[in-house]
Amino acid sequence: MGKVIVGIKTLIIVAVNLTGYLFLKRKVIDLKKERMFEDFYQGQITEHIKVPPNFENHYGKSRDYLMDVFKKMEPGSNVLELGCYLSKRLNWFAEKNPDLLFTGIDLSMKTLSLAKDNNELMPNVRLVAADFSNLPFKTGKFDAVFSHLALYHVPYSHIENVFKEIRRISKKDIIMIEPFHKVLPLKQKILLMSSPDKHTHDYRKIENDDVDRKEIRPLFDASSGYHPITVFHYLKK
Ligand SMILES: C[S@@+](CC[C@H](N)C(=O)[O-])C[C@H]1O[C@@H](n2cnc3c(N)ncnc32)[C@H](O)[C@@H]1O
Repeated sequence: MGKVIVGIKTLIIVAVNLTGYLFLKRKVIDLKKERMFEDFYQGQITEHIKVPPNFENHYGKSRDYLMDVFKKMEPGSNVLELGCYLSKRLNWFAEKNPDLLFTGIDLSMKTLSLAKDNNELMPNVRLVAADFSNLPFKTGKFDAVFSHLALYHVPYSHIENVFKEIRRISKKDIIMIEPFHKVLPLKQKILLMSSPDKHTHDYRKIENDDVDRKEIRPLFDASSGYHPITVFHYLKK
């Protein structure tokens, strides 16, 4: 009986949110920000600390893509991760690229303090609590800005402003690795468009007079269980 009720609830959420996405470009049934970031991520934190992310499978392709970019950067260059969560990936990148300076931002103070306590942060990592729509950095500060499964939390009404902020603080590479409905198989497309806690933005909207498109590359691979994500790589002129 319980399963039937959950099934009906899920169907209602999918139907309502899909209609909202298609006709209103708005999430009708949405998880509240506080619930998402304080409870939802907190609930996962113990698990993530115990079991580090599986770089070879789950994160392998995006890790390799970013590493290729970092390897070409000048010593002393500044890199920003938007939504670093527990900073495990950021710390890993920092260890492998000791000549670069890494900054991670996240909304959640709780998450960042746990990251500081548990991560044994590398000396070239700095963590800052901030919201994507108001980045506390000066114009052109970062040689590379990247996000990985983070901008999909931004509501539709805020994304243009977030793009503006990203363009402002960037000097060269802008790499957003996020779910993108247009390249997904139908079932995943519907799930993403109707999800109560994910947003599927058109990241091409970052394109502007001062930003050139480098490439858009889907990394989705159903057989490996890899995240259905796509790389959007831009260069600030
Ligand atoms: C799914 S986690 C991704 C973490 C990491 N990038 C990864 O791939 O493992 C998304 C993170 O983005 C953060 N986040 C979401 N919206 C944010 C916002 N508006 N400003 C700052 N951080 C935000 C959340 O707190 C969360 O830690």
